[in-house]
Amino acid sequence: MIKDQITNLKNEAIGQVLEANDLKTLEEIRSKFLGRSGKINELTKEIPKLKPEDRGSIGKLINETKQTIEEVLSQSQEKLGGKKEEWFDLTLPGKKPEIGHLHLVTQTINEITDIFAKIGFKRVRYPEVEWDWYAFGGLNFPENHPARDEWETYFIANLNSPKYGRGLLTPHTSSGQLREMEAQKPPLRMLNIAKCYRRQSDISHATMFYQFEGLVVDEGINITHLKGTLDYFFKQFFGPERKARIRPYHFQFTEPSFEVDVSCSGCLGTGKTASGEICRVCKEGWLEIGGAGMVHPNVLRNGGIDPEKYTGFAFGWGVERVLMMKYGIGDIRLLFEGDLRFLNQF
Ligand code: DAH
Repeated sequence: MIKDQITNLKNEAIGQVLEANDLKTLEEIRSKFLGRSGKINELTKEIPKLKPEDRGSIGKLINETKQTIEEVLSQSQEKLGGKKEEWFDLTLPGKKPEIGHLHLVTQTINEITDIFAKIGFKRVRYPEVEWDWYAFGGLNFPENHPARDEWETYFIANLNSPKYGRGLLTPHTSSGQLREMEAQKPPLRMLNIAKCYRRQSDISHATMFYQFEGLVVDEGINITHLKGTLDYFFKQFFGPERKARIRPYHFQFTEPSFEVDVSCSGCLGTGKTASGEICRVCKEGWLEIGGAGMVHPNVLRNGGIDPEKYTGFAFGWGVERVLMMKYGIGDIRLLFEGDLRFLNQF
């Protein structure tokens, strides 16, 4: 077997190299194995006689053997005080330049944008460095109201506007609602995707994260439009078998307000596996996504829209949250560490 011959040759060469005590002996070994009429070349001449399907793998094996002998030779040569021989194989294939790709968060933002674009939502961006009025006051949070505490906001020192209050890093994309109302007349169909900031940090919360906020304002908009939009998004983003559920909740800027859940992928909303056990992913069939509701009349008024004539719905969720649910990622910090072993999987 030629394979055995190659292995024996390799062992023989390495053995001789290890026993050699001077540079001259090493040179002799080099020419005996690697020289023009050396043993490796002799083996190479056997290749054309092999079965065609074996030629590739045997050729590769011979090349690897040659490289190994070359390496032990130069190591010993160096040890015995000789110069390290630079060996450059012109026949080796070149190194391909590494090609990057969009980060998973960016891919998800693009996907969300495309899904909502199909039903007429226009992507906008509003300031991340905001005024209190847009993030809180104008969204129906009275001054010093305890509900503000839930947003764990970073305020900016020495930045104050007599009209709009304190400067801050926006803690949610809902700040885009009033900006959109000021910029456009109804009908509105806005998708605001932006960075948000909060004083929080654990496996599911980062100090900087992304939210996407939908806002629709028109005549005759009601909860069924909201529910239909949520169902549409979940089917597009998570898969055709998924659906939305809304539960009563409280937000200052919506009335009524809801918490939105998506049916679990493991048990499709039943809470039980096929064999009747409790689903380990969700325990009760549903996974919480985030808030939504019908725009509060005070918010419409603050945005210069007549609440007697127009109604609207809104929702605002974390981009990282929905993507972590979709790909089964358990720790948000993985998304911001820039570790290629993680990022290359997507
Ligand atoms: N802005 C809220 C948050 O960050 C989420 C939210 C709730 C957005 C209800 C909405 C909404 O548009 O209607 O927790």
